[in-house]
Amino acid sequence: MIEEDWLQNSDVYSLFPTLVWKLQLPTKIVVNQNPAIIKAIKKINPDLDDIKAAASWQSHQSLHEETELDQVMFCISSAAQKVLRFLNIGVTNIEVTGCWANVCGAGASHRMHSHPNNYLSGVYYVRVPPGANTINFHDPRPQASIIRPPVTQLTGQNTDQVVVEVTDGTLLLFPSYLLHSVDPNDSSEVRISISFNLMFSQFAEKLSKPLWEPPPPDG
Ligand SMILES: [Fe+2]
Repeated sequence: MIEEDWLQNSDVYSLFPTLVWKLQLPTKIVVNQNPAIIKAIKKINPDLDDIKAAASWQSHQSLHEETELDQVMFCISSAAQKVLRFLNIGVTNIEVTGCWANVCGAGASHRMHSHPNNYLSGVYYVRVPPGANTINFHDPRPQASIIRPPVTQLTGQNTDQVVVEVTDGTLLLFPSYLLHSVDPNDSSEVRISISFNLMFSQFAEKLSKPLWEPPPPDG
């Protein structure tokens, strides 16, 4: 008979975790800036409130250059630096390569997608009505979905999707490769969020170079 004590001493390694950072901007910024941001978006699209059911709209992709976004962009930059420090990344020169507003009417959803050619992506939530306050993140390991036996309880170790709740003023940052989607807006109000991408400023110039030294010439 083998004693079962040996089973108590097992190690479990959590390898290559996928990290999503969730922050809440200071109330003062949320209360003051979100109405100004909505106004700025309405300047771009005056028909925003008349958006049809199940329809959605996206602004141009240089929204970060609008002055109404200044404080939020400053917070995004600070949060991105915190992420780079957390990951011990040696390059801190990262910049916004695109930033746009998403406006979802009642019933509108957003299909699963990722944000290629960037390192970090994120969302800042401007107006999140009840019933439209979630985002779904999907397992980025394509092979993991090949066998999905039934589970007795969904946990972080066996799920293929994680739902994150958000509210006005929430800021999310995540790896740009991470697939995500948004369920249909289950409220009668529009849902307004700002998406953005961040990439290392000198990627082609410095970071893409070969990581090895060429061999010395013969002789
Ligand atoms: Fe996205």
